Amino acid sequence: LPIIQGHVATALHVAQDYVVANPIRCAVLAVLYSPIIAIILNVLRQIVIPKDPSLPPEVFHWLPIVGSAIQYGSDPLNFFFKCREKYGDVFTFVLLGRKITVALGNKGNNFVLGGKHTSFSAEDAYTHLTTPVFGKDVVYDVPNEVFMEQKKFVKFGLSADNLRSYVGMIEDEVEEFMKNDGSFLIYQMNDINEWGRFDVTEAMSGLTILTASRTLQGKEVRDGLNKSFSELYNDLDGGFTPLNFMFPNLPLESYRRRDRAHAKMSQFYVDIINKRREGNSDTDHDMIAALMDQKYRDGRSLRDHEIAHIMIALLMAGQHTSSATSSWALLHIAHDQAVQKALYEEQVKYFGAGEGKFRPLTHEELRQLPILDSVIRETLRMHPPLHSLMRKVREDVPVPPTLSAPSKDGTYVVPKGHFVLSSAYVSQMDPLVWSKPNDFNAARWSEPDGAAAEAFRVYSDETGEKVDYGFGAVSKGTESPYQPFGAGRHRCIGEQFAYLQLGTVISTIIRKVELRLESDKVPDHNYHTMIVMPKKPRNICYRRRNFN
Ligand code: HEM
Repeated sequence: LPIIQGHVATALHVAQDYVVANPIRCAVLAVLYSPIIAIILNVLRQIVIPKDPSLPPEVFHWLPIVGSAIQYGSDPLNFFFKCREKYGDVFTFVLLGRKITVALGNKGNNFVLGGKHTSFSAEDAYTHLTTPVFGKDVVYDVPNEVFMEQKKFVKFGLSADNLRSYVGMIEDEVEEFMKNDGSFLIYQMNDINEWGRFDVTEAMSGLTILTASRTLQGKEVRDGLNKSFSELYNDLDGGFTPLNFMFPNLPLESYRRRDRAHAKMSQFYVDIINKRREGNSDTDHDMIAALMDQKYRDGRSLRDHEIAHIMIALLMAGQHTSSATSSWALLHIAHDQAVQKALYEEQVKYFGAGEGKFRPLTHEELRQLPILDSVIRETLRMHPPLHSLMRKVREDVPVPPTLSAPSKDGTYVVPKGHFVLSSAYVSQMDPLVWSKPNDFNAARWSEPDGAAAEAFRVYSDETGEKVDYGFGAVSKGTESPYQPFGAGRHRCIGEQFAYLQLGTVISTIIRKVELRLESDKVPDHNYHTMIVMPKKPRNICYRRRNFN
């Protein structure tokens, strides 16, 4: 290395003399060749200049600023596994000018998600993406303590009583959808022999917004879905993309549509609140009603725009996560006929009323269906909708020596200004933890002493170590290799609702139709959207069940 450094120093001196002697020529050449020069300097920086030994290893990349964006963006799982082989569990990569330090494995998950929020800030990492969509004064636009109070308010709206009342409504929406939506045309024709088909993600997106609005969002939103609300939703959703995450403000039409849609949608909810204050609408069980009743610790009620913006946040948080999960679940069910048969027989065993008829589902019973439960858990293991969770580093944070092999001068330090990233996707697909992680094996969840049982024990609200971050005691779960709903203070509060929504949608569909895949394998992942979706074509074939 010293010899190379000596040669580089000599070359730089020669170059300097040449520049002084030919300034104009050099300026023209520099403009023409600046991209190449930038690449060369970037490579030299990585291989020649001695590294600060306290920094985690940096992933080699050719293009400055762009860094490893292409590898990470097109297949994050493969990128992380390859980097782990080369650099270990902790490494830094460049993502469009940002330095992202990744911490993998159970300990990595714990380091990032169990870190102090004063050091690792979710709001600094996400606010530029979320605030233009959700609006001011909620979620990542307020200090963490205030957001934790807002999470507590939402939990009131997700009480057991409310959840209980939602099951029938969701079942009803699925039945109506199957009777009326174009996806189920052949089902509607009552023919028991003919197969129809639907694009699973399109159908599940439709069903998710219908079921979420009928329950959480409330009657007015459900009624609005057939009208202008859907358009507003689509425009707002167009502002929730990886492009928006990387570039908060670009002079593009999609950004302007996002801003107009936000203003209109916020007003839509404020109008609902005002109308409800004036009249006595029958809306006991929805979220707006719950939020209108809550007070911050200082005694202040939520302002109308805060309620409106929390409602938008919930709409966005639940839509793609749930529709992606139900899509993946149905794709696996259609692919694996044994699982499908077991699921159907479970429905018959618990709810069968003879001749293909079933009793309505109930919340309590839904939670006790082992096969349905395992299918949802296994789906979330292989396809967690969010593959990367990020925090911005507010002060230098040492990496525990148990997580990464210490450098020769001590431990690594993640410097202020970096982002840290944890990936449940990696720990959920890790062959060191799970046997045959690439196989969809719902049965692994019923092995009493298997990896799945252990991971779930640490993660689950019933058995894991409890902590109250300000929104009620929840299982900490940060050390579990299985954490599709996140862990720690930013853990999802929609988990129970999501299970109920997914369970009801899957049960209702499986009771009525047989499914099979159109192609011979479950589609690959599309990582180009914020939430990981199945790549097209993603059609499922269905046939009305024959009860004769
Ligand atoms: C947080 C996943 C459904 C509301 C999270 C996080 C994950 C997640 C991974 C952690 C984010 C982070 O730490 O950066 C999921 C999955 C879902 C789902 C897989 C469905 C299958 C829902 C639903 C709602 C919801 C239906 C609303 C009713 C929230 C909220 C947070 C959250 C409010 C808290 C964010 C924070 O504290 O920073 N979710 N979610 N989620 N989710 Fe969900």
